[in-house]
Amino acid sequence: MIRICTDNDFRIMHSIINDAAIAYKGVIPADRWKEPYMPEDELRRQIDEGVEFWGYENEGELTGVMGVQPIQDVTLIRHAYVRTASRNQGIGSRLLEFLLKEITTHVLIGTWADAVWAIRFYEKHGFTRVSVEEKTRLLKTYWSIPERQVEASVVLADPKWPDRDIQKEYL
Ligand SMILES: CC(C)(COP(=O)(O)OP(=O)(O)OC[C@H]1O[C@@H](n2cnc3c(N)ncnc32)[C@H](O)[C@@H]1OP(=O)(O)O)[C@@H](O)C(=O)NCCC(=O)NCCS
Repeated sequence: MIRICTDNDFRIMHSIINDAAIAYKGVIPADRWKEPYMPEDELRRQIDEGVEFWGYENEGELTGVMGVQPIQDVTLIRHAYVRTASRNQGIGSRLLEFLLKEITTHVLIGTWADAVWAIRFYEKHGFTRVSVEEKTRLLKTYWSIPERQVEASVVLADPKWPDRDIQKEYL
């Protein structure tokens, strides 16, 4: 079952995110890794800033979360995390497909350039990487992240995103 997360889910959401984020350890630039990857106060700030979390629940237990954040004219998918032990069972796909059906604007997703599994996951769902110039512009327009994170990230855009600079350097 997919449902919206509430304050009561905060601890479990925090636990899922930090369990799943272990995937980044030794993969993303070392200066971007920290443990826990998402401290509690940062998660609270994200929620306060408008990230709405949805969760996948199985037999009463949340095993995956995914956030949506409407910003200006687009919606961002943020913080997609499925517990390490529950990966590759279609939970991330179900969450993403559910949210995409609800969203009426263009959708953008930012992730680490080194998180190849995440990029492949979004590409399987029709998203395409935008060019380096475009991702820098988009990250600065729609996200509030440090310069270093901009450099180490990619942005994927939904299939209907106006073409422009999509994938130039990946073709
Ligand atoms: C990215 C992430 C959320 C995807 O969640 P997930 O539940 O594992 O995703 P799915 O199971 O739907 O799809 C993942 C893979 O499993 C495959 N799969 C889906 N259902 C399956 C099933 N029943 N049996 C076997 N494999 C299956 C999918 O085809 C996909 O294959 P691919 O890796 O070759 O593309 C998860 O890997 C994760 O939390 N990663 C760590 C954090 C992260 O990178 N987050 C993204 C931040 S933006």
